[in-house]
Amino acid sequence: MTTVVDGKEVAASVIGVVKTTTMALEKDTGVKPGLAVIIVGDDPASHTYVSSKSRMAKECGFTSIQHTLPAETTQGDLAALVETLNRDKTVHGILVQLPLPRPLESDPIIQSILPEKDVDGLHVVNAGKVATGDLDGGLVSCTPAGAMVFVRRTHGEDLSGLSAVVIGRSNLFGKPMAALLLAANATVTTAHSRTKDLAGVCRNADILVAAVGRPEMVKGDWVKPGATIIDVGINRVPAPEKGEGKSRLVGDVAFEECAEVASIITPVPGGVGPMTIAMLMANTVIAAYRKLGRTPPKF
Ligand code: GUN
Repeated sequence: MTTVVDGKEVAASVIGVVKTTTMALEKDTGVKPGLAVIIVGDDPASHTYVSSKSRMAKECGFTSIQHTLPAETTQGDLAALVETLNRDKTVHGILVQLPLPRPLESDPIIQSILPEKDVDGLHVVNAGKVATGDLDGGLVSCTPAGAMVFVRRTHGEDLSGLSAVVIGRSNLFGKPMAALLLAANATVTTAHSRTKDLAGVCRNADILVAAVGRPEMVKGDWVKPGATIIDVGINRVPAPEKGEGKSRLVGDVAFEECAEVASIITPVPGGVGPMTIAMLMANTVIAAYRKLGRTPPKF
């Protein structure tokens, strides 16, 4: 029997821990975790994401601040706002929604966030801590952190003897995901578009993670019987069966045929997606606990 992971349910359990640890922190110290989200310009999809993040932060009991800036904001103005938030003691986490509108450059802005407030885990200090296996000192970016919650709930903390294949080598996901699996003792292969015999490499995986952005690329005969599959892809494809001009979301994994071979599989939508916001909240609580000199909760 294949188990289809319910990402919403797992995300809700992470949010449950965020809420109880937030209440405990406030009771003991009088301090609420503070999350500041910055959005520049008027991209509708980005506004939708940011509204969900701000709403969830309030629901978790945080102080939630949203800075909505016009598309004409200068690099200097944005940098000055980050500097103000870096100095603000009530703010434990800062998130700058990406992509920024042209001609703003995101990298200098992201790198100017204090690493201990970088709840997106995108600062090179946090990326470096993940790369060196220092997982208790930094902040792990939200999507790989969320994917690892699924892996831990299936296989436990120690992946000794298991082989993991990550398809995709992006700085945002593939590289940190591979580093997290390695830190948990898996034997890890990072595969990508130049990998020879990708199907054969994937067939070796006890844990197969796909993050390539190619709709339904991973086929059923690429999957080792009994494997765990984590699908990080979100691709919109035409769905004429739903009506003219309609579309639907699919992952990087051909779900039906892979589900027949795997033991555990995450769906798209409803798998990794709901975990990303939950892990952002988790990172904000972790940042607040650390700032107050307390041992943060584990997720
Ligand atoms: N845009 C889309 N996803 C993300 C994310 O996880 N973090 C930020 N900062 N911007 C995004």
